[in-house]
Amino acid sequence: MLMSSKLPGIGTSIFTVISALAQEHNAINLGQGFPDYPTSEHLMDLVNKYMRQGYNQYAPMPGVMRLRERIAEKIEGMYGINVDPDREITITSGASEALFSAIACLIRPGDEVIIFEPAYDLYRPAVEIFGGVVKTYELLAPDFQVNWNYLKRMMSSKTRLIIINNPHNPSGKVFKESDLLELEKFLDSSHDLFIVSDEAYEHLIFDGLEHQSVLRYPRLRERAFAAFSFGKTFHNTGWKIGYCIAPPALTKEFRKVHQFNVFSVNTPMQHAFAAFLEDPIEYLGLSTFFTHKRDLFLDIIEKSRFTPLACEGTYFQTCLYDRISDEKDIDLCRRLTTDLGVAAIPFSAFYTNGTNQNIIRFCFAKKDETLERAGELLLKA
Ligand SMILES: Cc1ncc(COP(=O)(O)O)c(C=O)c1O
Repeated sequence: MLMSSKLPGIGTSIFTVISALAQEHNAINLGQGFPDYPTSEHLMDLVNKYMRQGYNQYAPMPGVMRLRERIAEKIEGMYGINVDPDREITITSGASEALFSAIACLIRPGDEVIIFEPAYDLYRPAVEIFGGVVKTYELLAPDFQVNWNYLKRMMSSKTRLIIINNPHNPSGKVFKESDLLELEKFLDSSHDLFIVSDEAYEHLIFDGLEHQSVLRYPRLRERAFAAFSFGKTFHNTGWKIGYCIAPPALTKEFRKVHQFNVFSVNTPMQHAFAAFLEDPIEYLGLSTFFTHKRDLFLDIIEKSRFTPLACEGTYFQTCLYDRISDEKDIDLCRRLTTDLGVAAIPFSAFYTNGTNQNIIRFCFAKKDETLERAGELLLKA
């Protein structure tokens, strides 16, 4: 029997392709975004403790209450905003599920959704699977600025959703207060427009910049689903725990999808995160931790023929390679992996049209010695 695909354009992701090639050639994998160092011992002990205490059955559908309370305190401490843990926070299976469930509860066939590219690969298929129509706004190197007037021209009576990602993967750009204020203006003219804000890299922000969560902007907050990731924050992407913050009416709709999508999320880990979050140092120190990694990688790269672009946030460093070759980014990435032993991701893979700007993306969430070893090899490029 032939099954007609709901997502005919989707093939194997570039991350799978490059990771497989890296494994085959024993290359250092600076491609996919995950750390090669362990998560906190204390956090692992806490998970173990709660498992042994018997917290092994289904958690409440919206999440363990003490974890939601700690998250509300974190948001209050960081941004001075009150969030109701009961009616506004839902624990999800990673930021991914938060994004997918938010899109699922919003998008009906024919709804238009504006996405900024280069983009994380989940947004487009999630919209299309519910019959939504993606309108792409291309952000371009070197500064990836949004022309908000141009964006306004992309809006129509069918525009239901704008998806933003801040700090932005893969560019490392951070949206500033002025951007959020511009975005807020869009809500004036439309009563049926919503925002999904992917803030998975909330804590990975550098050089004194402050994270501009949509939650800080009252009018955006009223219409936004904000998605967060403990995996990115606490170096355990394999645990797949995150959360969604949205106003009560939106959360109510969100949970209708969430409960039939995953129902609830890993119980002992939720208790462990609740205990772990009691000490804010666990997340307030992250910017310093990652600034060190970024700067270490930059010091190495600056001696090479790669030209680094600004990295204001996330754990990705993008580099121009026009002083090395004029081949396509995917070809260079394959060659770096097979010949030099370092895997990176071709930037064009993040654009639907494959826009090539001679840029590749490295992940610097790696042990210092991994970055140093990779650096030595990259000097030969
Ligand atoms: C921009 C962005 N959003 C969301 C996610 C997914 O986060 P999680 O692993 O918590 O599902 C990722 C993971 O790479 C990401 O880069």
